[in-house]
Formats: sequence, C-alpha cells, structure tokens
Amino acid sequence: MKKQTKAIRIQTKKSLNREHSVPLYLTSSFAFESAEQGKALFEETEEGNIYSRFSNPNVTEFVEKVCMLENAEEGIATGTGMAAVFVSLAGLLKSGDHIVACRALFGSAHQIITQILSKWGITHTYVDASATEAEWEAAIQPNTGTAPTDRPVAKMVFLETPSNPGLELVDLEMLGRLKAKYGFILNVDNCFATPILQTPIDYGADLSVHSATKYMDGQGRVLGGIVVGRADLIQPIRFFARHTGPSLSPFNAWVLSKSLETLELRMERHCSNALQLAEALEGHADVAKVLYPFLPSHPQYELAKKQMSAGGAIVTIELEGGFERVSAFYNALKIPTLSSNLGDSRTIVTNPNTTTHARLKPDEKAALGITPGLVRISVGLEAIEDLIEDFTQAVEKSAEVVKEKVA
Ligand SMILES: Cc1ncc(COP(=O)(O)O)c(C=O)c1O
Repeated sequence: MKKQTKAIRIQTKKSLNREHSVPLYLTSSFAFESAEQGKALFEETEEGNIYSRFSNPNVTEFVEKVCMLENAEEGIATGTGMAAVFVSLAGLLKSGDHIVACRALFGSAHQIITQILSKWGITHTYVDASATEAEWEAAIQPNTGTAPTDRPVAKMVFLETPSNPGLELVDLEMLGRLKAKYGFILNVDNCFATPILQTPIDYGADLSVHSATKYMDGQGRVLGGIVVGRADLIQPIRFFARHTGPSLSPFNAWVLSKSLETLELRMERHCSNALQLAEALEGHADVAKVLYPFLPSHPQYELAKKQMSAGGAIVTIELEGGFERVSAFYNALKIPTLSSNLGDSRTIVTNPNTTTHARLKPDEKAALGITPGLVRISVGLEAIEDLIEDFTQAVEKSAEVVKEKVA
C-alpha cells in the first residue's frame, strides 16, 4: 500500500459509536478496570493508556503516521518542535559528551547547544554544511584530522537540511557513511523537507525530528513536534519526556493527524509554487540574489537533486538596501503575511536578521549569511500567477523607494 493511502487510512480503532472521523480524546487520564489492571499497566506487562502525559490515542495515531512516513521504528510527539529537538538531545547526551552540529541551525537549536547543553558539560563543535567529508570526519573523530585531540569522539551529529534560513544542504549519504564508521547517533531536523521530500533514515540517520507546527499542520493553527527513529534510542527519549512532561496535547495531535492526510498533496503544490516564484525572481534586476535548492544556481543543486524529490517551499532572497529596503518591500506587498512562522498555506515573509535570528551574535549571523536585506519567503498555496505579480511589483516599488531616498 502506498504511503499516501496509509496517511489517510491509519486511524485509531473505532469506538462503540462507529464514528467515521476519529474522535478527540480530551482526557487527562484513563480509568483502570481493576486494581490488577492498574498494576499491570504501570508494570508494563499490559499495554494501554494511563495518563495523557505518557500517551493518548490521538497522539499515538499521529506518531504512528509519522513513523510510517519516515520509515522509522518508533516515535514520541511533543508540544513544540523545540521540545522535540531538546528531548532528542537531552534524552541521549550526558555530561562529558561531545556533539558535532552543522553551523546552519535554527536559532533556538543553536541556543540549546551553546547556552543550555554547555551548562551541563556537553561540549560542541560546529561544522559548515558544505564541509568536505574529511572536514566532517576531523570534527567527529579528532584523531583523524586537525581538530583538537583533548575532547571525545562525537556522541551525536545534529543537523538540519535544508537549513533555516540559508537553505544550506548537508550530504546525508556522506554522513550515513561516517556514522557507519564511527557509530555516533545521527540526528536530522527534517522540518524543511518533510518526509514527503526526504527520508533521512534511509541514508542511515538514527533520528528524524520535526517542528510539526510547520508543514505537518500546514495551516498555521497548532504547535507540535515529533522525534522518530530507532526504537532503542526512542526508549530513553521517552523516559526523559515522560518524567519532564513536554507532551503534545490531544487536540493538537488530532489536528496534526488530520493534516497528514493532505501533506503529500500540499507539498506538491508548495514546491511547484516555490520553484516558479524562485525562477521569476532570479531573473529580476532588482533582486540581488535568489536561493532555492532546485535552482541550478544553488551551490548544492546536484546534492539537492540527489537527496530531495523536490526543492521545498522556502525561497530566500537578498534585497540591496538593507532593512530600509526590506521595510519598503513589506509595505508594497499585498498578499503575503509578515510573520515569523513558515510552512503555511498562506505565503509568509520573514526578515531573519531582525526576528528569528536576531539574538545571534554578528559573527554567528555572518557565518550563516544572515544579512539585513535577507528575506525568507515561505511560499504558500495561493495561485502562483498572483504571487509572482505581487512579489514582482513589490521588488520594483521598494527599489524605487530606496533610490529616491538616496537621490
Ligand atoms: C528547522 C526548525 N526546527 C525547529 C523549529 C522549532 O519549532 P517550534 O516553533 O514548533 O518549536 C523551527 C521553527 O521555526 C524550525 O524552523
């Protein structure tokens, strides 16, 4: 059976009411039929729901679908994407461990690694997304290269591909090869690609994490996160989550599970809109730079074609004139929403320098290519003709405004 069919047909067992659409299990706890059953459920000699911090039918259905889409053994859902990233790190790492991470990370993931894990004695090394195999290897296994030798071999490699907002890619096949050699845990934030475009586990990743807030919901309604992967790794993550409590609410899980029924369909339209918008803007004299993984001008175009089935729905553009130009561009746009979210049916524009990545230090921004004139476009599902027309006029009008101010 195809994944698209399963994404629609996996469903919580019908109740005595024979409902067609799965009901909402808005309950914090579940009743025991006897003292013996309560004992057995806690001893885990019987499987079943106890308390919604541990499990809930709506949440289980969502997890089951994502495991199916990602080719994963098991998973655990969380209240936000950041909670998913956090439990995937804190549930597996301990003081003295070393994490090698791709430099191009979402701002909050970067803060967890540099400001929070470091307090607990977990050290890190950053590597550029486009680093060669030898450079990754030197960071992972210090004795093989130039990296300092006074730290341990990496326990985990954590990366995003494509990255937010620079759309840098990491070669998953290469990291899978290094993982086979050194045995670290390969943990991939697959939020931008979604399992529809890329399944990291097929390249040897042990874990795939998501902000389900983005494309999995797809309409900007609820927050959610999920970690899926190897059963023996999900087990300690589940222990960590069960006792620290970052659970996904049943209502959000219900929304997310319903949304997965249309994920494939939506991603097709998102990606075709994004490619057409990127092509239209790339040819425009008033746009300094356009980045999109499926444009031949993207520095990692060949890699994108190899590991992704389409280019995703984020297009990043660079406008000359800094924040002033961005402000004029925003004022001229008629359709998109000005927001910091992404992965919505509505097109959203974001200026990472002043919002999502504002807290990074200047050198960290420079390393990620976050300039004042950078605009991240989360391309929605509107008619592409309307989007191209609106973006083109806003690019031209904002260029005029800035020129007039200079003159
Ligand atoms: C790649 C990536 N990972 C994780 C997150 C965090 O997700 P959430 O906002 O659901 O906590 C985001 C949010 O923008 C993201 O873009």
